[in-house]
Amino acid sequence: MNESETRPEQMVCHIGAQRRPSEPCSIVIFGASGDLTARKLIPAFYHLCKEKQMPPDFRIIGFARREKNDDSWRAELREALDRFSRTKPVDEEVWRSFAAHLHYCAGDLTDGAAYERLGEKLSSFGAAPLRDHVLFYLATQPSQFGEVIERLHAARLLRRDSGNGGWERIVVEKPFGRDLASARLLNDELTRYADEQQVCRIDHYLGKETVQNILMFRFSNSIFEQLWNRNSIDHVQITVSEKLGVGARGGYYEEAGALRDMVQNHMLQVLALTAMEPPVSLESEAIRDEKMKLLKSIRPLARQDVAKQVVRGQYFAGTIEGKPVPGYRQEAKVKPDSNVETYAALKLFIDNWRWSGVPFFLRTGKYLPQNTSEARIQFRPTPNVLFAAQCGPNLDANALALRLQPNEGIYLRFNGKVPGVNMSVRPVRMNFSYNAEYGAYTPEAYERLLLDALAGDATLFIRRDEVEAAWQIVDSIRAEWNNKPLSNREFYAAGTWGPVASDDMLAQSNHVWHEPRIEFD
Ligand code: BG6
Repeated sequence: MNESETRPEQMVCHIGAQRRPSEPCSIVIFGASGDLTARKLIPAFYHLCKEKQMPPDFRIIGFARREKNDDSWRAELREALDRFSRTKPVDEEVWRSFAAHLHYCAGDLTDGAAYERLGEKLSSFGAAPLRDHVLFYLATQPSQFGEVIERLHAARLLRRDSGNGGWERIVVEKPFGRDLASARLLNDELTRYADEQQVCRIDHYLGKETVQNILMFRFSNSIFEQLWNRNSIDHVQITVSEKLGVGARGGYYEEAGALRDMVQNHMLQVLALTAMEPPVSLESEAIRDEKMKLLKSIRPLARQDVAKQVVRGQYFAGTIEGKPVPGYRQEAKVKPDSNVETYAALKLFIDNWRWSGVPFFLRTGKYLPQNTSEARIQFRPTPNVLFAAQCGPNLDANALALRLQPNEGIYLRFNGKVPGVNMSVRPVRMNFSYNAEYGAYTPEAYERLLLDALAGDATLFIRRDEVEAAWQIVDSIRAEWNNKPLSNREFYAAGTWGPVASDDMLAQSNHVWHEPRIEFD
């Protein structure tokens, strides 16, 4: 029996217990024939049903061009669920009751009449709340957002104030534009007929338990809270490494690259949570205000800083787990002379009182040796006077790793005396593992995010100003890279930890990248 099972219930503080229960509602998925619906959205809704988290009554309407009826769409989704469900086999009873909530509306996104039909479908469900509470999930190309919003408005399906306690919300996914200018345009389109509060921008990293735990960990544990500043922390390393290459996503990746794909969103969000000031409350706006302040305090990168503080890389052919893999330029739909980065590393400074002078190193890449996301807090060393004879100049400093995935947990590294007559020192670790403590409870990020969108809780969604602040950082880097071909020092073999230029960047300030531990429990 683990400790949490023996813990009295009164010691468990349920912060979200006052979360508004979701009202009966309809969910309309635009782009319902796509990958996202089959892989993520339907499995997430199915599990929410299974765990009895869905509102008392709901409908999911798939909207897409292909001619289908309710039954054929359900059959298609059932097949997809068998493949993509995180729990297997699919529970027949849960599926039967879930499938009864699934409906299909065939229509072209650009056809006004299709939206009228959608309105009729929404009204046909009988119960008024199913018509008055509607979540529009835009699983389409961002270039289509503007048109969908416009047509929803014209069909009186999307209103700023729907009256009678009703609501309409819009959910969108990244990419939120490809630079600041296009993000602003996109944001203008999204809010042309809706208020910012009605827009839920998904960054699925915020749906991860371990990412949500960053604030809890920082602000509810006094021993760490007191050390979380420039006096105790030497630097911070945030790594999001992936063992996969770009695979079949070459076409998308050519337009994105690591900076747009991972840094602009996931990595800057993890950085913001790791470094932000305590919010005045747990209200969504209070938290988002602090994240925003943090993003604004990141020191802007002037042209001459980019070469010193940002490294890009691209993989060439190498081996992953003993198997040969192609280079990026040989991937499908990738130009043979592409300069798109599959790796990016940044050294950022946060110009505020808490972090003055502390470097934050961020790195992400495809075809790296491990799948790992973690934030490592590297503390300052003690004065090396006592153990200099035994350890030379290299007495290990304490480090705290917030392991976001996989093997979710937190470990603290400190020095211990190796038992024996000699005075030798060795770093050892204290581990907290989610699996050991809570069991293998790993809801998909989408489940939490969809539930929050239905409940109207904006905390885990990205606000317009956050998106734009993040693009400002990314744009300053891209402007410097534009049209510059990659140099030899910017290539890395698939299966290695990135280009040498990245190690060099850290070496300039006597730092090194720390390899995340694979084994954790
Ligand atoms: C997505 C990126 O946003 O995040 C992908 O587009 C990346 O390129 C993925 O692989 C990583 O997400 P996760 O949850 O697997 O770390």
